[in-house]
Amino acid sequence: MKQPLANQVYDTPLDEIMDRWKRDSSYLIEMLQDVQEHYRHIPEEAARRLSEELDVPLNRVFHIATFYKGFTLEPRGKYPIAVCTGTACHVKGGSRILENVMRELGVEREGQATQDLLFSVESVRCLGCCGLAPVVTVAGEVHGDTSTVKTLKIVEELRKHAQSS
Ligand code: FES
Repeated sequence: MKQPLANQVYDTPLDEIMDRWKRDSSYLIEMLQDVQEHYRHIPEEAARRLSEELDVPLNRVFHIATFYKGFTLEPRGKYPIAVCTGTACHVKGGSRILENVMRELGVEREGQATQDLLFSVESVRCLGCCGLAPVVTVAGEVHGDTSTVKTLKIVEELRKHAQSS
């Protein structure tokens, strides 16, 4: 179903996303997922255009964009960090890792991006690999048996990589 149109030149990524889903409002959530992936958040302008072009009330677009945890109205970091605070990870210090990493990155709330827009931190409930507790994912990559120091080391490596590229 999800097929980009061949050889099409688009004015904006949003046009491409809407065409990918045939501008059919029944795929609004899928379009929002693509918008989130592309922009790392749901920009207000994108929400307004989706509302107008798909003939969906703006408050419905915002309702979906704020209801699902996968969507944010402010930009996430390029490398999102998810710290598991499910039971097994919490027992092994997951919640402390979350607090420490947020403090070290200078973010006050979950989902807020760092000033350089490279990182954001969120808690998640059980990533399904409790045997590896405590677990953190960085940019979707799973790191088990981790700690604050190990997580911050990954952060530093990614920051260096971003600065050199
Ligand atoms: S509780 Fe963390 S992976 Fe299950």
